[in-house]
Amino acid sequence: MATIRDVAKLAGVSTTTVSHVLNQTRFVSETARLAVEQAVKQLNYVPNVVARSLKGGSSRVLGMLVTDSNNPFYADLIQWVDKVAYSHGYNLILCNTQGNVERACDYIEMLTQRRVDGVLVMSADARQVPLSAFAKLPMVMMDAGPSAVGFDRILDDSELGGYLATKYLLDRGHRQIGILTGPLAKYNSQHRLAGYHRALAEAGVTANDKAWVHSGNFSYEGGFEAMQSLLAQTHGSNEAVTAVFANNDLMAMGAARVAADYGLRIPQDLSLMGYDDIPGAQYFNPPLTTIAQPMQALAEQAIAMLLARMAKPDCDGQRLLLPPSLVERDSVRQL
Ligand code: RIB
Repeated sequence: MATIRDVAKLAGVSTTTVSHVLNQTRFVSETARLAVEQAVKQLNYVPNVVARSLKGGSSRVLGMLVTDSNNPFYADLIQWVDKVAYSHGYNLILCNTQGNVERACDYIEMLTQRRVDGVLVMSADARQVPLSAFAKLPMVMMDAGPSAVGFDRILDDSELGGYLATKYLLDRGHRQIGILTGPLAKYNSQHRLAGYHRALAEAGVTANDKAWVHSGNFSYEGGFEAMQSLLAQTHGSNEAVTAVFANNDLMAMGAARVAADYGLRIPQDLSLMGYDDIPGAQYFNPPLTTIAQPMQALAEQAIAMLLARMAKPDCDGQRLLLPPSLVERDSVRQL
């Protein structure tokens, strides 16, 4: 395997010049640069990034901690992050914690040893990892992760999303609106519920939490079970809902299945909204009206935040909320 010395010899320059060309760390004459590039090509030279990072330079690698999930929301977001990282000249190491705190700890240790330049954390399991474990890594939290102050964090504005969804239903004449929340210990679940309450209050509708608020776990099954509990309690009664706001698209799909079991057609008998705008939402029958998370912007801002943190490790932690938007399809009826 060719070394930096071989490249320097063939190009007729010093190894320092080769290093400056490869790392773009100093001006090098056009002739020398071309000679180095040609030698690199001819010798198939691959710089040793590990050695480079050991010398205190950049490894040009970022880590990303994710939780195993069958939610396409995560796959979509990861694709965007990878794309944006690549466009900045970084490779991404994906670490799947598989819902396991020990694994999360091991991965953080591994990423530290590999001298990655920074880490994005999108894993609820990382909540339980002692914060000291992250100490040496510039880090940004996305969607889920330790909620301690002082860390950079980027999220969609879930309160606004909850508000937009509920207001949309109210504007279409619905007054009895059920909500299927995610786990109420999670920030995004609490905020989507708060947005729902804000919209109801603004419209002068008294929230009937006992009958209308049911929690699941952001999965198909969670939506199925929460909807079973909602309909078992309200169907055929004075408290029956005409619309349901499921706090993510997977839950909306699980809920639709229960509606069908009750003989309720969407949207003729029951209107339904989701959250996320996963790729499957537009192919659902009927196409699902939902709240879209700003995936590309979340990925771009997360990488920008991480690069800023890498450049200035000691600056104050920031919290960035990005606004979601409404995607109107066919699952809501005007009353
Ligand atoms: O983590 C589950 C949910 O939280 C996703 O569906 C998405 O809405 C995210 O914010």
